[in-house]
Amino acid sequence: MAITVQPVNSEFVAEIGDVDLSRPLAAEDWDAIYQAFARYSVLVFCDQSLDEDQHLAFAKRFGPIETSIAVHHTDTKMRIRPDLVDISNLDADGKIWGKDSRIRMHELGNRLWHTDSSFKRIPARASLLYARSIPPVGGRTEFADARAAYDALSDEMKARIDGLVAEHSIFNSRARIGFTDFLEEERRNLPPVPQTLVRVHPDSGRKSIYVASHAGRILGMPEAEGRALVDELLEHVAKRQFVYSHRWRVGDLVMWDNRCVLHRATEYDDLRYPRDMLRATVSDEINSCERAGVAVPA
Ligand code: OGA
Ligand code: MN
Repeated sequence: MAITVQPVNSEFVAEIGDVDLSRPLAAEDWDAIYQAFARYSVLVFCDQSLDEDQHLAFAKRFGPIETSIAVHHTDTKMRIRPDLVDISNLDADGKIWGKDSRIRMHELGNRLWHTDSSFKRIPARASLLYARSIPPVGGRTEFADARAAYDALSDEMKARIDGLVAEHSIFNSRARIGFTDFLEEERRNLPPVPQTLVRVHPDSGRKSIYVASHAGRILGMPEAEGRALVDELLEHVAKRQFVYSHRWRVGDLVMWDNRCVLHRATEYDDLRYPRDMLRATVSDEINSCERAGVAVPA
């Protein structure tokens, strides 16, 4: 039976039904999923039962898999293999993390609007997040449609941001929540990188606002002015009319396109309830400035 594509939110979210991602996909089903991902940019697959290899095998069909930056957190033993990102509140022994643990501080940064790995020279193309256990309340994930948000900008703003380049760093987003206690290892391996403020989505030809809490300075602009512009754009993309809020069930796999969607985690009682999610992250091909042919100012 062919898969179904049911819009959840007519603009950018669809639920894909009648599919079992633990098994190899028929060619026409893969094609339908690929087309749906280009048309929408958030796909929800319910009732999946995936082990780590099956999760990664599906993700790999979209491109190469990123290595988790948790490999640079050399003070913390990893719970999960490095080709998956541990989006949980659990330590390597499966216990809920401590209130002051560094992994907790790192992950609280996910509660700010962002796009995955824009702090890497080659950022993430797609993320595939799979829910293994969820808290009874809270812990939703919100997604914002950065293509619709771009379309809604004034012509003046479109002209203003055209060709601009922002400097992205994971330390910017963590500094926003007051966390600056990074290891030398992390600083060395995660230098700031340039990304364009506007991207053209290759599969749809549509433009999107490419901004995140990881963005700091805008190159060629006074620091305060650049940061104010980043905040203004973040606030714009996060307007209610562009946002879908996902309430998780165990077995959901949600995938999103980091080139044209922002997301954030919402609050839950992370010192009380386990929330166990794993993310497979597909890398983009090149840096956004290189793709756009924008020269990076020194
Ligand atoms: C992520 C992320 C949000 C959440 O997996 O990249 O930001 O709700 N997750 O856990
Ligand atoms: Mn994220």
